[in-house]
Amino acid sequence: MDKKISYGSAIGKIILMGEHSVVYGEPAIAIPFPSAKIKTSIYKSNGDTVLNCFSYNGALLEAPEEFSELKSVIKKVVEDLDEKLKDFNIDIKSTIPSERGMGSSAAVAASAIRALYDYFDIRLDNNTLTSLVNFSEIIVHGNPSGIDTAIVVGEKPLYYIKGKPLEVFKFKLDAYLIVSDTGEKGMTKFAVSKVRKFIEDNPARGKELIESLGKLSSDAKKIIKEEKIIELGKAMNNAQNLLKELRVSNETIDSLVRVSIDNGALGSKLTGGGLGGCVITLCSTKKEAISISNTLLNNGAKNTWISNMGVEEDES
Ligand code: PMV
Repeated sequence: MDKKISYGSAIGKIILMGEHSVVYGEPAIAIPFPSAKIKTSIYKSNGDTVLNCFSYNGALLEAPEEFSELKSVIKKVVEDLDEKLKDFNIDIKSTIPSERGMGSSAAVAASAIRALYDYFDIRLDNNTLTSLVNFSEIIVHGNPSGIDTAIVVGEKPLYYIKGKPLEVFKFKLDAYLIVSDTGEKGMTKFAVSKVRKFIEDNPARGKELIESLGKLSSDAKKIIKEEKIIELGKAMNNAQNLLKELRVSNETIDSLVRVSIDNGALGSKLTGGGLGGCVITLCSTKKEAISISNTLLNNGAKNTWISNMGVEEDES
């Protein structure tokens, strides 16, 4: 029996290290980002399914191109469960700006899938959820590494290598991370294809850059274990330089990175696909994070979030 109303939720993610190189089998580190939340509600109704999500409110089957992965995964779930795509409406609310490298597409899919299984009263296991979110991510990105799916499903910090068993990664650093939004939509699919083109055109240097990014992720894992935040900041700066050479940074990202470093941050880099999206900045105290966050807002950032990195809040 269908319920009157059902819910599903999901949180976003931040890639700390290893975006792009993770597509080529190198390790990456990603952490959940609970400030970014998606909540899906499903209501009983009559007739064709209506979708209310971001800027769109209308028939699900007529939703524009940008919702094609969501449309496809909803249709797939309904078919897999032997149900009908009618007599319910889907309402998706998000505190994650879309296309900002915070894993919005995977989180939207995960929350909708969870809500649909809840609506049809079917237990959802993590393997099924993973394969359904991946189905949606393939439509969005073409050839995703799977890191967004893994973190959105597991909601735990991960040291991730494509195709390898997931390694949950204990994360406890006496430091703060600012996430600042460039206000520009990231272009993950395009950025991934740009990196591929760079590697095709410059095979030797491309290989070096990808391997160096991977090495920075494995170094960062060790650095985080040893709680060496200054070293982590340096690794982030090095990663940003390599990502810049791979042509996935842009002027807005470079400017927010520069503002961060000029104002005393330990390190700063783009996160996610790049070419827009968000920048992350590592700070040693909360006081410094607040001050740098304000400076970023005065210098072009459209929004900022501050998160502690697994330790209790300090009062400094
Ligand atoms: O832009 P996002 O949050 O979807 O992150 C993309 C990360 C990449 O490494 C660039 C692509 C991937 O599939 O891992």
